[in-house]
Amino acid sequence: MRSIDSIRQDFPALKEWVYLDNAFVGLMPTPVHEGYNEWINEWYNFDIKKSTILNGWLEKTSKLRSLVANLIGVKSNEIAFTMCTGSGLNIVVNGMNWCKGDNVVFTEWEHNPLVTHTTRKSSVESRVVHASKGKFELTDFEKLIDDKTKLVQVSQVCYTNGFRFNLNEISKIVHEHGAKLLVDATQAVGALQVDYKHDNVDFVSVAPYKYLMGPAGLAFLYVNEKSIPELIPDRTGWKNQIYEGDNPEESIKEGTAEKFEYGTINFQGVYALSRSIEYLNNIGMTNVEKQVIKLNNYLYDRLIDLGKDIWTPKGNESAILSFIQESPEQLAKVLQAKKIKVTGRKAHGGHMRVSVHFYNTEQDIDNLIKNL
Ligand SMILES: Cc1ncc(COP(=O)(O)O)c(C=O)c1O
Repeated sequence: MRSIDSIRQDFPALKEWVYLDNAFVGLMPTPVHEGYNEWINEWYNFDIKKSTILNGWLEKTSKLRSLVANLIGVKSNEIAFTMCTGSGLNIVVNGMNWCKGDNVVFTEWEHNPLVTHTTRKSSVESRVVHASKGKFELTDFEKLIDDKTKLVQVSQVCYTNGFRFNLNEISKIVHEHGAKLLVDATQAVGALQVDYKHDNVDFVSVAPYKYLMGPAGLAFLYVNEKSIPELIPDRTGWKNQIYEGDNPEESIKEGTAEKFEYGTINFQGVYALSRSIEYLNNIGMTNVEKQVIKLNNYLYDRLIDLGKDIWTPKGNESAILSFIQESPEQLAKVLQAKKIKVTGRKAHGGHMRVSVHFYNTEQDIDNLIKNL
């Protein structure tokens, strides 16, 4: 792995800032910035005589599909590009065949709970799993999931305090009842090694503007290939047309997750995300995860030394740690004035959320601790 000093040169903001707010927005490294510019320059300078610019964009998209699939341990035909985490969740929920009497189970800490106008119209019952002592217990899922449960939603890593689910364990319970598991992995991918085939998950939605460090406005959805035929696209266009328009040769074949892409996608985002995944692959996701968890354990111990009441369970392996705090928004402002960026929220009785990435150091954490 490259030295941390050399990696930090790729993030200009780190010269001035102690940045510990990656769960809010990740910092963009120079190569991702270059990816954005590459696309702009390509279009601005494109040779109209050759007129192959769109083909280039499509080729890049197809390569990115493989990069994304490799990163999360699935096949490239199971990846659909979307706009944000919420679009992926809506595609799944609205594409299912709901009947009166069905229920959905989701945690109280979902950033985008899966209730939509479709579930409302179909009178689907919502069952909410509550947290206790900073975590969710499998036994609480077992109590709520039954044979009328169609979909269960969890965030792999919760945005509140970083609680991390063991997806393999939860998917067993979900599948025993014939239901499907929908995962919001926006706070996980890019920071942690993930493998959704191993975890036997049905759907995963991810936005890359946090731990994947860019872009915004392009996201992706994994649909397990067994579920692709069952899920009906809830939106249509020239690309996945259900009524044959005047360009049928360009429309998508059944059997791939591309059927959920209905129109032109965010190609600039494609260039940026390709650079981001290549960048992480160069560092190695094993190294990224190791660094993130090491820093989080270090932070945990320093906060205990300070006598802080930590909301995140001990030994939890994610990039986020939260502790209870009076006047959290005020403290966040004081820290910001000292060039230390974290999140302070009044929710859940008041807490500070600290979220590291591989480019942080123990010194960053010592700086934060000195100022608490
Ligand atoms: C767990 C989680 N999911 C999703 C999002 C963002 O959702 P979207 O990509 O739909 O804007 C956030 C943002 O903080 C989040 O923490």
